[in-house]
Amino acid sequence: MKTKIYYFSGTGNSFWVARELAGALENAELVSIVRVLEEAETQKRGIDTAAEKIGIVFPVYAWGVPRIVVSFIKKLSGEGIKYCFAVTTCGGNQAATLLQAESLLKEREIELQAGYVIKLPSNYIITNGAVTLEKQEKMFTTARSRLDKIIPVIKNNQKSGVERDFFIVNIFGKLVYSLFMSNPDKARYFTSDVRCTGCGVCTKVCPTGNITIEKNKPVWERNCEQCLACIQWCPAKAIQYKHATQYRNRYHHPEVKVEDISHRKDIRTPENMNTSEYMSTSEHMSTPENRKKFRTLKIKRTPK
Ligand SMILES: Cc1cc2nc3c(=O)[nH]c(=O)nc-3n(C[C@H](O)[C@H](O)[C@H](O)COP(=O)(O)O)c2cc1C
Ligand code: SF4
Ligand code: SF4
Repeated sequence: MKTKIYYFSGTGNSFWVARELAGALENAELVSIVRVLEEAETQKRGIDTAAEKIGIVFPVYAWGVPRIVVSFIKKLSGEGIKYCFAVTTCGGNQAATLLQAESLLKEREIELQAGYVIKLPSNYIITNGAVTLEKQEKMFTTARSRLDKIIPVIKNNQKSGVERDFFIVNIFGKLVYSLFMSNPDKARYFTSDVRCTGCGVCTKVCPTGNITIEKNKPVWERNCEQCLACIQWCPAKAIQYKHATQYRNRYHHPEVKVEDISHRKDIRTPENMNTSEYMSTSEHMSTPENRKKFRTLKIKRTPK
């Protein structure tokens, strides 16, 4: 059965999960949600998966589905899809995230047959720095054994239902989510300090092309998903969010590279992952002209 695994990931947790799944399933392609949405927006069309089995892997944002993933699902065509699964990663609680994904998919006439949450180290540096390496290692071990249980279910197209939190957490979660979505422009709080070398890594990992380098320093515009990739991947730890982050440890998944997370590249398969080809395709965003071109393709914001 032809499988496509669509992923969105700021700091690599969800990418890591998606890649592990793609490696374990037969005939599976990894597809960047950012890229596929960008193409659909540019060509003013929907997203036809051309696969019988699809998976969607993404992080929990404020107890809900990231806006970019909402926009992606709203463009999906359910035609030909026989099995659909979702995995969301988070640092603590998902609340009603998977239920939200389930109802968004239902609107597209796609049944979510299996939905799982996998806990991994939190990237939400605005409230906390990275947990210790020891704690991270424990979380990776638990996440790997979760995957060992999930993979056979997905491999055999089983209907396992959608994981959910307690009712009361879901109600509170929905409130937090709508507050978070009502104030989307967080990029105005980012600054770079004297440690910035002008290397451009922040521009490569930004899923919306929201950052440009001018006079050797990053400049943020107003199209931010608040994925925190820029702050977390900056090799000089030069990016700050207000005054909250100067002394906090950074985090990104240790088995994921900048090249993996640079969203603008070709569809990948387990066979062609981590090759030098990725380096060259990520160069897509390496010139000011290309970045400017991408910035004009604003990704439509359609939160639920
Ligand atoms: C904007 C934002 C909101 C978040 N909200 C939650 C949350 O509500 N619950 C939670 O457990 N983790 C939350 N997190 C942490 C991420 O869900 C978690 O670190 C996730 O694994 C990151 O995935 P990624 O590395 O693929 O980007 C949030 C992170 C961000 C950036
Ligand atoms: S990644 Fe960090 S050091 Fe590199 S340009 Fe961006 S802010 Fe500067
Ligand atoms: S500017 Fe916003 S969307 Fe871009 S990497 Fe930073 S946090 Fe993510």
